[in-house]
Amino acid sequence: MTATVGVLLPAAGRGERLGPGAPKALRALAGEPLLVRAVRGLRAAPSVGPVVVAAPASEVGAVADLMAGLDVVVVAGGAERQESVALALAALPPGVGLVLVHDAARCLTPPSVVEAVVAALRGGAVAVVPVLPVADTVKLVEGDRVVRTVDRASLRAVQTPQGFARGVLERAHAEVRTAVTDDASMVEALGLPVMTVPGHEEAFKVTRPLDLLLAEAVLSARTLRARP
Ligand code: C5P
Repeated sequence: MTATVGVLLPAAGRGERLGPGAPKALRALAGEPLLVRAVRGLRAAPSVGPVVVAAPASEVGAVADLMAGLDVVVVAGGAERQESVALALAALPPGVGLVLVHDAARCLTPPSVVEAVVAALRGGAVAVVPVLPVADTVKLVEGDRVVRTVDRASLRAVQTPQGFARGVLERAHAEVRTAVTDDASMVEALGLPVMTVPGHEEAFKVTRPLDLLLAEAVLSARTLRARP
């Protein structure tokens, strides 16, 4: 039997790097909140089943209204991303065997990336991350002094959705207590293998004001491409 794929969508961040205003997931991109775009993008991937959104605790009602008709469960998120993911995981229906964790801020992620992650999980991986090569030269620094240059050829920038066998993600959240910036790090801490699939440049995270301009440009290009 094919395992059902559920998605956890942490969307409880304030998004302070984007400047003052509403929580990031509720900010508009070409007239539609990032979170709505993220959910629609997920729904365009055929494998995606139940979706759980972790909303800012003060905005659960507003987010539930926004999500009306999109068939998602909305829970209150936590102070850290990791906590928001754990709270969403606890609300996932029992029949779900594979779990994707996807940042609401990566709202333009193409469905092909979602499907590539699912295919790797169905192929037997217990944890999967989409990655891209690193364009810049990267240096390790202490204060303002360079310690050394890291070999760029073996570095990858990591995106979401990250995919997991449900039991592995649950174990990671139960056992790993160190602060992390993504979910795969917790699985690494358990000593389990994390595999990679190709990411996509349009799966970037909307973080700073420039990212909103880039996102608008991507949407315009998609509209042009869709014209007959
Ligand atoms: O802060 P950062 O850009 O890394 O956040 C990545 C994702 O995690 C965003 O979609 C954000 O809304 C979410 N997040 C969350 N709960 C937090 C902090 C961030 O759900 N406490």
